[in-house]
Amino acid sequence: ERLRETVEPLVEWFRENQRDLPWRKHVNAYRVWISEIMLQQTRVEAVKSYYTRFLEELPDIKALAEVPEDRLLKLWEGLGYYNRARNLKAAAQQVMEEYNGVFPDTFEEIKKLKGIGSYTAGAISSFVYHQQKPAVDGNVFRVVTRILEDSDDIMKASTRTKIERMLEQVIPAEAPGDFNQGLIELGAIVCLPNGEPRCESCPIRGFCLACQDECQMDYPVKKKA
Ligand code: ADE
Repeated sequence: ERLRETVEPLVEWFRENQRDLPWRKHVNAYRVWISEIMLQQTRVEAVKSYYTRFLEELPDIKALAEVPEDRLLKLWEGLGYYNRARNLKAAAQQVMEEYNGVFPDTFEEIKKLKGIGSYTAGAISSFVYHQQKPAVDGNVFRVVTRILEDSDDIMKASTRTKIERMLEQVIPAEAPGDFNQGLIELGAIVCLPNGEPRCESCPIRGFCLACQDECQMDYPVKKKA
């Protein structure tokens, strides 16, 4: 159906137009994990310098598992939501103890780690391990609900599950990470919220119902506070 037609143009667009971001160099599970946790409540521009400093100071899982709490919170100072940092350390200790220091490589195992939900587990397993798992964040909700003119409330868990299932059907085996990152990147730099989507430069506007009907601003629908 409609989503499937977006796969090829989106993957190609991502490969040519992705921003040069520090966590896209030397991809591994540790680096994707740290960046996605930082990006959950913080803007890309603000994350960049924190991410680089964090990786210099704590370059691997072992270093994170052993870092003193005050050092860790110092590195996180300014990013807010300090439980994110505490969960990172707890999960690193989990990896050291339960997985011999080797980051687990399946969606299900990754999702068991402290502080990792379905979005982050999907991001790591698809970007790093090339599994066909969806990674639905706010960007992806916006892009997909606009393509489909889907008016379900994105605050409902059932809406997330429905969109994850639809994406699972179309994620390409040869490029799951580039497809997922293409959705995220499109939401971040083209399919913008509020009054400013840049539909004229969208690689998949021909497949987007909301663009055709000029009602991009009606999506996503978000009811609950
Ligand atoms: N926002 C959330 N994850 C992101 C990523 N991997 N790249 C850019 N923006 C993002």
